[in-house]
Amino acid sequence: MDYDIKDIKLSEKGKLRMEWAEQSMPVLRLIKKRFKKEKPLAGVRISACLHVTTETANLMDALKAGGADVVLCASNPLSTQDDVAATLVDHYQIATFAIKGEDNKTYYKHIQSALAHKPMITMDDGADLVSTILSEQKQLIPNLIGGTEETTTGVIRLRSMAQKGVLKFPVISVNDASTKHFFDNRYGTGQSTLDGVLRATNRMVAGSTVVVAGYGWCGRGIAMRAAGMGGNVIVTEIDPLKAIEAVMDGYRVMPMSEAAKIGDFFITVTGDIKVIRKEHFEVMKDGAIVCNSGHFNVEIDIPALEKLSKRKRTIREFVDEYTLSDGRKVNLLGEGRLINLASAEGHPSSVMDMSFANQALSAEYLVQQHKNLEKKVYPVPPKIDAEIARLKLEGMGVKIDKLTKEQEKYLASWEMGT
Ligand code: ADE
Repeated sequence: MDYDIKDIKLSEKGKLRMEWAEQSMPVLRLIKKRFKKEKPLAGVRISACLHVTTETANLMDALKAGGADVVLCASNPLSTQDDVAATLVDHYQIATFAIKGEDNKTYYKHIQSALAHKPMITMDDGADLVSTILSEQKQLIPNLIGGTEETTTGVIRLRSMAQKGVLKFPVISVNDASTKHFFDNRYGTGQSTLDGVLRATNRMVAGSTVVVAGYGWCGRGIAMRAAGMGGNVIVTEIDPLKAIEAVMDGYRVMPMSEAAKIGDFFITVTGDIKVIRKEHFEVMKDGAIVCNSGHFNVEIDIPALEKLSKRKRTIREFVDEYTLSDGRKVNLLGEGRLINLASAEGHPSSVMDMSFANQALSAEYLVQQHKNLEKKVYPVPPKIDAEIARLKLEGMGVKIDKLTKEQEKYLASWEMGT
């Protein structure tokens, strides 16, 4: 078996951490149990490009239990957990191509290695597999029955491909499932981003000013958790609706040009480029901490920061201290890559449980339905989404009410008024 990982000797540690994660993934456990019996993915080659974490490893294990032939590569150069990569190879015989800290050349080499598997299904987090296939590996298209996509940034790229007519197979947008973005993007990113910032810096949030750029589901989660720790939260936005929502949620809203002067922490989650740039670094307070939790490392203009600086040193792990020409210091965390996975462990397992249940069931759906699907971006079927919600609630031991017959009738009627 071909693979490229840091050190196979890390596999015992990875196995234990994987088991720990599985304990908080009851929905995925149920799916794995059924997959083992029914083998709905028998003989299906899947190439996955995901963050190589304990949760992803459990997804790979579930897909394999369903009969799939799986290979995995990293969806970000800094998010790999090397012990998990080792255990996937050593204990699960899953070909894995991922090394934490790999350079860009190795990152793309690993994508090519995953594609050498000639996938029938691609499983992306950021659409790098699909974009590589469409630009460099078109000969793989006839094998493909479809793909799945995990994250907002990937879905935006895929919609652009579909709109321009270059998407050549159906892709299911896992991100758009309610059981994904309401929880993973909000509560997952909220907790894991603060976790990443704190592990990297060990600084106090209470009493400090935290600037959150972008008030999508991820921004909402980060703002909520930063405020919960006593931070003074400022939100920056370009969308009037989201800006009103942030104001009514109790945060100050202002342009980045103003927020830049008063922030202690800056966290970008917009999905766009150069959200923090030269003019902002120029007015930041001495010691400002800047990081990103969006998918790509493009939200902070790092080349501009380099240009403004006379000195750069790594002052602690995941913290690069830049000294500007006037002596002020700006600290960049995790090279501007998603800080929740660079310096922490990503979202907790219990929330990834729902995201990856969507992935597993979407793969099964593609096998069953690909002949009826067009070259478009599809939502996760609402029935699957609803079933995952039901199972998650069951796993949490929470019971809810049922409509009475009379209530059902009332909701379906129009005759009854005041
Ligand atoms: N994205 C965010 N957190 C993650 C995790 N724990 N595993 C895989 N992908 C993630």
